[in-house]
Amino acid sequence: MKRIVFACAALIFLLSSCSDIGFSIRYGAKTEPVLPPQSQEIKGAPVAPPKEAVKQTEPSPVTREPEETPNVDEAIEISDESLGEGGASLIPDLSVTQGISAGGEADNSLAAFGHYISKNEERYRAFIEAYPDMALTKALALVNVNADYGYYKNITQIADPAELLVFCNKNFQLPADYIPEGLRNIAGYSIMLTDTAATAFEDMAAAVKAELGLKLIAISAYRSFDYQKALFARYAKADGEGVAETYSARAGHSEHQTGLTVDLLHMWPSTGSLRRENFQNTEQYAWMLEHAHEYGFILRYPENDVSVTGYLFEPWHWRYIGVEDATRMHEAEITTFEEYTGTFYRGTTPVTEAG
Ligand code: DAL
Ligand code: ZN
Repeated sequence: MKRIVFACAALIFLLSSCSDIGFSIRYGAKTEPVLPPQSQEIKGAPVAPPKEAVKQTEPSPVTREPEETPNVDEAIEISDESLGEGGASLIPDLSVTQGISAGGEADNSLAAFGHYISKNEERYRAFIEAYPDMALTKALALVNVNADYGYYKNITQIADPAELLVFCNKNFQLPADYIPEGLRNIAGYSIMLTDTAATAFEDMAAAVKAELGLKLIAISAYRSFDYQKALFARYAKADGEGVAETYSARAGHSEHQTGLTVDLLHMWPSTGSLRRENFQNTEQYAWMLEHAHEYGFILRYPENDVSVTGYLFEPWHWRYIGVEDATRMHEAEITTFEEYTGTFYRGTTPVTEAG
């Protein structure tokens, strides 16, 4: 039933968007920025199933420890069941009014920002005009990571996919043949992360166990380019490409290929099955919001940043970037890796290479 509700909502959304690539067109023509214009029309758009409706049909989450952890094959099956039912919202982030906004600043003030890049000047201006309520520091950061081009436009090939701060999204693509070095199974699972990320996850899971008496259950970690390609194709076939774009990455654009990303589960009380929906209502999730950065992990697709990340809320999807940067991002209260990268970037792939 929930799948039907979601499918109907997705259909409404698709019809309202007339999009050929997910919801980017909903926000304007292909050459326009990907973020939503500040208009009544968009604010009132029926873009997602009401979360209340979803919640009513779902059992409350349980946080007790399951009998055993899943292996990767079981995990994929569980993952399939739960597609698109995360109670996530496509409501765009229109609440970005903190900090310095365009209205209060002189035109020549942009260069004062540490992350100002002079060749982006015109693009900054256009972006700021499109989103006048957005904090200038955030606007500059998003342009720096090419968010103004639109999803899957002007794609940059990632030069060094092995760096810890590798930035992979709809505009930055991993090489098809990239396989991270040092992949190993997470202890107790048959799914892999790089050794550093696996150790960090194990330490974090141990802390959750010690502090809450609960398990952090991993469902999916490293995925190869070919695996992601097949996965996306399967989702596109099942839900249509536009809908699949809202929750699944095209091959080469999934962080799972970096070996630095893990998806988490909790137990579904009515059936005892392990699910990822409603992970946001678990004690583990609350703990992670407070402490995951201490182990180097960040929430990659937050609920209120759908228009920035290009993905529905994924409370289960956590990315390892190392303690130093995760802590810096946490303390700066920056909620997306897009904004963090555009603000503090120091990797080897030029963030504005494309275009
Ligand atoms: N679900 C995330 C976006 C992925 O496919 O990598
Ligand atoms: Zn994931």
